[in-house]
Amino acid sequence: MLQGKKIILGLSGGIAAYKSLTLIRLFIKAGAEVRIVATESAMWFVTRVTLESLSHNKVYDKVFGSENDYTTEHISLTDWADVMVVAPATANIIGKYANGIADDALSTSLMAFDKKVFFAPAMNCKMFENFAFQRNLQYIQENGAAIIEPAEGYLACGYEGKGRMEEPESIFRAVEQYFDADSELKDKQILITAGPTQEAIDPVRYIGNHSTGKMGFALAEELAKRGARVDLIAGPVHLAVSHPNIHRVDVVTAEQMYEAALQRFPSAHAAILTAAVADYRPETHHSHKIKRTREPLSLKMVPNPDILASLGKMKKENQVIAGFALETTDELDNARKKLQAKNLEFIVLNSLNDQGAGFGTDTNKVTIVDNKNQIERFELKSKKAVASDIADKLSDFLR
Ligand code: CTP
Repeated sequence: MLQGKKIILGLSGGIAAYKSLTLIRLFIKAGAEVRIVATESAMWFVTRVTLESLSHNKVYDKVFGSENDYTTEHISLTDWADVMVVAPATANIIGKYANGIADDALSTSLMAFDKKVFFAPAMNCKMFENFAFQRNLQYIQENGAAIIEPAEGYLACGYEGKGRMEEPESIFRAVEQYFDADSELKDKQILITAGPTQEAIDPVRYIGNHSTGKMGFALAEELAKRGARVDLIAGPVHLAVSHPNIHRVDVVTAEQMYEAALQRFPSAHAAILTAAVADYRPETHHSHKIKRTREPLSLKMVPNPDILASLGKMKKENQVIAGFALETTDELDNARKKLQAKNLEFIVLNSLNDQGAGFGTDTNKVTIVDNKNQIERFELKSKKAVASDIADKLSDFLR
C-alpha cells in the first residue's frame, strides 16, 4: 500500500525520463505524495510544467535556487521522504552516488538520504556493461540500494541489448512490494546461500557443479515477500533478484562464500543454506594455463570449509539453521545424520532419484525433517511453491 507514503522521484538525464511521467501518475493514483528532484540534464527531456502538474509540487533542481522553500532544501526534502526512487538512473548519477560526489540537487539529496533508495538504470548497453559502472552498481547494492534491473531490448540509440529502463508499472510494483512486505517475518534478518561455487584450477578452468541457484533465489524472494530482510550469498548464477529487501552478495569460491556467511551470520535470526558448495578445491591454483602434455595429469584436492557445520557450531540460542541434503541413496537416513552432525533445526531433503527434482529444473520434490524427527513429505511442485513450504517451516521455528 502506498497510501500516504512520501516519495522523492529522482530524475537524471536520460530519454527514459518520459516514462517516469507515467510512474508519477501511478504513485499519485495509489495515494502517495511525490516530490521531484531533477538534475539539470533531466530537464532537457521533460518540462517543469509537466512534472509540477503531475506531482502537484515544485521541482527541486537547483541547490541554491531562490525559488526553494528552504536554504537547505536537500535536507528538508530528504527528512520528509520515506523512500527515494531514481528513474531514470544514468551511469553518471550512479557513479556519483557510489563515489560520494554531491554536486547538484539530486546527488546532494541522495547523499543526505539515509532510507531506502531504488535505482532504475537506463543507458546504452555498452555503458551498462562498462567495468567501472558494474563496479559502482555492485557497490551501491552492497550498501543497501535496490536495483530495478533494466530490460533487454531496443534502445533509443539504435542498439539492442540490456539497458532499457524497466517499465513504470514494474518500478511501481517494486516500490509497492517494499512497503507491502507483510508482517509475518518483519524485523527478521535471514541469510541464504545459493548456487554453485567454482574452484579455479588455472586461469581458464575450474571445478564446479550443475546447481543453477533457482531454489535459493526462490526462497530469498519468498522470505522477502513475507517481510524479512534477506542476505543472499550467491555463487556464479544467471539469475536476478527482484525484491528490494534482498541484499545480494556475489561470490565465486567456497572460501569466499564461507567468509561472507560467517561475517553476516551473527546478526541473522536464521540461515538457510541451499548452495551446492564444492567440498574440495585444487590445492594449487596455477597462475598460468596448464599446458597439455602426453602424461596423465593428477590434481591434488584439499577440503573446503563446511559452511553449514561452521554456522551450526557458532549458533546462539534463538538462531535457526536449516540445510539442504541432496542424496542418491539411503536418503532419509543420510539427511537425519546431516541434521544432527551440523546442529540444524531442520533439513530439506531432495533426492536425485525423483523425476523433476534437483538441478536446473523449475520444480522440486522435497521432504522436510526437523530436529524433533517430524517428517513432512511434499508433492512435486514449482520451486516457488516449495519455497513457500520451507518459509512456513521456518516461520514456525521463529515464532
Ligand atoms: N554445505 C555447506 N558447505 C559445504 C558443503 C555443504 O554449507 N562445504 C551445506 C549445503 O549448502 C547443504 C548442506 O551443507 O545445505 C548439505 O550439503 P551436501 O552436499 O548434501 O552434504 P555434505 O555435507 O557435503 O555431505 P556429502 O557430500 O558427503 O553428502
